[in-house]
Amino acid sequence: MNAYILIIVTLLVALAITAGILIFVVVRIFMRREGENDAADVMLGRILDGFPVPIFEIDENHKVTQWNRALEVLSGIKKTDVMGTDGQWRAFYKEKREVLADFIADGASEEQIARQYGDKARKSSLIEGAYEAEDFFPSMGEKGKWYRFTASPIRSGDKITGAIELLEDVTERNIAEDNLRYYAVQITKVQEEERKYIARELHDTTVQTLVALIYNLDNFMRDDPALTEDNLRKLKAMQDNLKRAVEEVRHFSRQLRPPVLDDLGLIPVLEWLAGELKKTYDMDVQMEISGSQRRLPPDMELALFRIIQEALINAAKHASVKSVDLKLGYMDESVKATIIDRGEGFELPDKIGSLPRSGKLGLAGIEERVQMLGGRLEIESGKGKGTKVYVDLPVVNTPVGFTR
Ligand SMILES: Nc1ncnc2c1ncn2[C@@H]1O[C@H](COP(=O)(O)OP(=O)(O)OP(=O)(O)O)[C@@H](O)[C@H]1O
Ligand SMILES: [Mg+2]
Repeated sequence: MNAYILIIVTLLVALAITAGILIFVVVRIFMRREGENDAADVMLGRILDGFPVPIFEIDENHKVTQWNRALEVLSGIKKTDVMGTDGQWRAFYKEKREVLADFIADGASEEQIARQYGDKARKSSLIEGAYEAEDFFPSMGEKGKWYRFTASPIRSGDKITGAIELLEDVTERNIAEDNLRYYAVQITKVQEEERKYIARELHDTTVQTLVALIYNLDNFMRDDPALTEDNLRKLKAMQDNLKRAVEEVRHFSRQLRPPVLDDLGLIPVLEWLAGELKKTYDMDVQMEISGSQRRLPPDMELALFRIIQEALINAAKHASVKSVDLKLGYMDESVKATIIDRGEGFELPDKIGSLPRSGKLGLAGIEERVQMLGGRLEIESGKGKGTKVYVDLPVVNTPVGFTR
C-alpha cells in the first residue's frame, strides 16, 4: 500500500515539475516577445509565488531573477535577500559553488555535467536541454536533505539567456524507501530463521515420532503370535505408509533448509540441489567452478544458495529447457554466480521490485538478498533469447540497515 502511494505521489510531483517548467518557459517566451521585461518579471514572480513547487531563475550572468515563495519556505532564504545576486547556491550549500542551473545557463556539455554530477544527473526525457538529478545535501536542514532538482535552459532564439531550476525535497520519500528496504531485509532474515526452525522441528520431533511408530509396529508384528496373516499384511501396509511419510517429511525439511549447507557448505548443497532438479523437473545443471573454492561467511553461503536455487527453479519452471549452466567464480574479494539458460526468455519489467505486486516473489527476493550483501545483480533476458542472471557479492559482509 505504502509503495503504491509513494509511486503515485512521485508521478504527481514529476508531472507538476514538468508542467511547472513548461508554464514557466511559455510565460517567459510570451512576455519577452512583448518586450516588457520588468513588468514580465513582476508578473511571472506573482505566478510563481502561487506555484507549490520551489523554483528559481537565473539570467546569463548567473544573477537570480526569480525566487518563489515555495523556495523561500524550503530554503529559509527570503527572495529579497537573493534577487539580483549570484546566491542561488544558498538553497543547497553553506559555501558558494555552482549549482545545476549555473551549468545549464552556461550551456555546459553532457560531459561537463557528468563530470560534476556523475550518474546522479540525467538528461530530461521530456524537456530539451534540461537535466534532472537527485542528491544529498548534508548542510541543509538538521540532518541533511535529499533534493530532486530539474534545471532547464531559457532561450532567446538560439541563445541561452538563463536557466530555471525546480526543487523537490525528497528526504521523507527516501527515508520511507529506506524503511521499506529495511523491513524487506528483516522479513527475509525472519523467514530464514523460521524455515530453519520448522526444518529442525520437523526433523527432530515429527520424524522421530514417526520412526518410533515404525519400530513399535515392528515389535508388535513380531511379538504377537495371535496375529492373522491378513492383519499382518494390513499392518505391514500401514508401516510402509509411515515410512513414506517419514521420507516425505525429511524431504520437505531438507527443502526448507538443507542441513548440508550449514554442515558442508555451498558446493555440496548445490550438487544436492542439482540432483533434486533432475528428479523433479528432469533438468540438468552444468556446474563450472573456478577460483579458490572455500567456505564463505554463513550469511553469504545462504544468500548465494537461495539466489541460485531461485534462478535454477525459474529456468526449470519458465524457460522450457533441459539443461542450465551454473558458473561459480571464487575471487579473492568476491564470489560471482552466473545462471544461464537458453530457453524462452521474458520481457524484463522496468523495476524488479514491481513483480511482487503480481504475486511473483522470486526475482525480487534475489534483488533483496544481493542488496542486503552490498552486491551487484544483472539480469538479461528477452523473448526467445534465454535468460542470464549474474550476481557478484563481496566476501566481506556490509552492514545492513539505514544507509542514508
Ligand atoms: N529463466 C526464466 N525464463 C523465462 N522466464 C522467466 C525466467 N525467470 C523468470 N521468468 C519470468 O519472470 C517472472 C518473474 O519471476 P519470479 O521468480 O519473480 O516469479 P515466479 O517464478 O513467477 O514466482 P515465484 O518465484 O514467486 O514462485 C516469471 O513469472 C517468468 O515469467
Ligand atoms: Mg520464481
